[in-house]
Amino acid sequence: MNKVLFYQKGTPREQIDLWNVKLKKWYRNFNLVHLDDPTASEALIALLWKAPMEKISKLNNLKAIISLGQGVDHIINDINFSENMSVYRIVDPYMAKSMSHWVILSILNYIRDYEGYRKQQIKKIYKTKDNLDFTKIKVGIYGTGEIGKVVAKDLNSLGFNVLGWSRSKKKFSFFKSFFNKEGFNHMIANCDIHVCLLPLTNDTNKIFNKDVFSKMKNGVCFINAGRGQHVVENDLISFCGNKINLAILDVFEIEPLPKKHPFWKNKNIIIWPHVSAETNVETAAEQVAKAIKLIHSGKIPANKIDLNLGY
Ligand code: GLV
Repeated sequence: MNKVLFYQKGTPREQIDLWNVKLKKWYRNFNLVHLDDPTASEALIALLWKAPMEKISKLNNLKAIISLGQGVDHIINDINFSENMSVYRIVDPYMAKSMSHWVILSILNYIRDYEGYRKQQIKKIYKTKDNLDFTKIKVGIYGTGEIGKVVAKDLNSLGFNVLGWSRSKKKFSFFKSFFNKEGFNHMIANCDIHVCLLPLTNDTNKIFNKDVFSKMKNGVCFINAGRGQHVVENDLISFCGNKINLAILDVFEIEPLPKKHPFWKNKNIIIWPHVSAETNVETAAEQVAKAIKLIHSGKIPANKIDLNLGY
């Protein structure tokens, strides 16, 4: 029986049993084995989330990797990754919606000053604050792919003015599309809320740095649910409390965020533990099972990564 390797960092070992049951509903012709299993080296396909790539690179039979998340940086940006491997990712409308909920939650909390009113409640203060006109708020979404376009659409339906930045120009009615350096600079200089949902590639690594923060308007909100590496963390800290009114972060350069990290104590930063759009085995299993089946029959499944683009 074909072996399929499984490794999902940060989840209990039993997670493999759950995936096994859910995948087998759609395709049964394989055995799921953990990386520590002695037969792991027989696997042609690996399902991975933040696996030790050095170990993976030593598995000589491995031909294809399916990311157990939407991002593939944990696979292809690792120095041990070999380019003759084909890589696929999950593209799940459930996850896109989940991200959209989290971004909306963050933006509405910010513009309605949820935190401020909770602080007032503790002191029994019954006092209104100025209400912002949401139609005048420009929200910039950086990365308008499978996830970003859903977030943009939902924000637009809530009455926000949405701008979106991507590698190439996009045609959607629900956001104004910007691309290239000029488009990026335009959004940086004009948006009130910046939302990073980019894939992590050589081009987007450290894209939010002091040069970029310094060009933002005063008092913006910066939201990152892309990857920690999109941001130069020390640069972000130095702009928090002046240019950046509030930074809402779900991803960090090092995860879990180290206890000594200065972000923890910064009153202009809200920290989330990488939960904005988690993989849902219930909704993702069908496409992963079908991808395994297609690879086994020598075909190419959907959502193949272009290794030149990095996503
Ligand atoms: C989460 O970060 C993912 O890449 O799915």
